[in-house]
Amino acid sequence: MSRIRVKGGYELSGEIRVEGAKNSAVALIPAAVLCGDKVLLENVPNISDIGALSEILACLGVDVSRGENSISIDSSKMSNKIITCELSSKLRASYYFMGALLGKYKYVNMCFPGGCSIGERPINLHLKGFEKLGATIEENDGNFIIKADKLIGDDIFLDVPSVGATINIMLAAVLAKGKTVIDNAAMEPEIVDVASFLNEMGADIKGAGTPKIEIVGVDELHGATHSVIPDRIEAGTYVIIASLLGHELKVSGLVPGHIESLTSKLEEAGVKLEIGKNYVRVDKVGSYKAIDVKTVVYPGFPTDLQQPLIPFLTQCHGVSHVEETIYENRFMNIPDTVKMGAKIDVVDNTYASIHGKTALVGSDVVATDLRGGASMVICGLIADGVTTISNVGHILRGYQDIVGKLKNVGAKIEIVD
Ligand code: EPZ
Repeated sequence: MSRIRVKGGYELSGEIRVEGAKNSAVALIPAAVLCGDKVLLENVPNISDIGALSEILACLGVDVSRGENSISIDSSKMSNKIITCELSSKLRASYYFMGALLGKYKYVNMCFPGGCSIGERPINLHLKGFEKLGATIEENDGNFIIKADKLIGDDIFLDVPSVGATINIMLAAVLAKGKTVIDNAAMEPEIVDVASFLNEMGADIKGAGTPKIEIVGVDELHGATHSVIPDRIEAGTYVIIASLLGHELKVSGLVPGHIESLTSKLEEAGVKLEIGKNYVRVDKVGSYKAIDVKTVVYPGFPTDLQQPLIPFLTQCHGVSHVEETIYENRFMNIPDTVKMGAKIDVVDNTYASIHGKTALVGSDVVATDLRGGASMVICGLIADGVTTISNVGHILRGYQDIVGKLKNVGAKIEIVD
């Protein structure tokens, strides 16, 4: 099994370019089948999740071809097939095929094992939305048959502003009869990106990016070409790294407004950021002060950057406090961070107190999940000595060429088998 080996303490200079957003691309790809035509998606990250989705498309008879950072999808000859556990269990976002196939065929039969290491991650709100549109749902041991004679628009209130439920309901509603209103909708930039793509295919969606989204059903959609928005979580991960080790390090190809909750927190700690039109440049300063962070839905501080921020907080003078309000088990990277020398107390798997400034020492550690793995890479970059990270598949799922990008700016990092 491959591992990442990193020797810490090196200043990083130059430029890191951000890819397209994983959490948008994994929704755009299932959405593309709604038009039964040719679609070209550009600025698609070259990560394993995209490969897993391509396999599902192929099993549905969709003609797929991938470029380095693009994917062309022709669903004109596709057919509705059962999506097996073997295919759907490779990534959680396979559940977007529920909304897409229900919206297109009014019938979907797919396995969705659900669950995830960072939390129970139910899909009750997705299913509530489908039922409000007129679908019936049979679930047997993780296999879902969702069907409707016809889909009729309705008003749907989301108990929590779920990203996945908001997107999945949009996918099911675009070809329904009449108007659907999603209240308490998620407002993440990825929602706006998916709504923009659907409208480029001929859908009629208003209000994406606000708590109230209106979808007026249309009879059919047509092909389109769409460029995926930049990945704000990848961008934020590299801005955190730049804050720790950057010497004139520029993170480019990002949307500064999408990571304002992070940059404002870093500035509160004393980081000096130059924020341009589509980049952030950092020249690290000697010392930072402790800050408090609470993860909330967009535009607040994103849960996906909570784990990558922990190593930064170990280098801040004082006690920083982190409250994780979105997931019930998103501190799995902390034991290995403590193994490297950090002083962190966790209460109720919800509150973490990080005592800094604490030197970290290179160790053998494990990537417990995607963002936890990114957090361990950051620990390795600042630690004294060599850190070896196993289970790197988690990391490579969400960060295209993270080793190459860091090596290009001066990190002593490599993948070893
Ligand atoms: C998306 O997951 C992202 N994944 C996650 O990123 C991200 O952490 C999350 O949004 C929050 O921003 C993708 O986009 C592929 P949610 P999603 O539905 O849609 C509860 C990463 O690291 N909930 O907004 O699954 C749920 O339990 C990943 O890239 C219900 O109760 O997130 C959680 O507590 C990790 N019922 C909260 O809502 C539901 O039906 C947020 O979940 C759905 C969700």
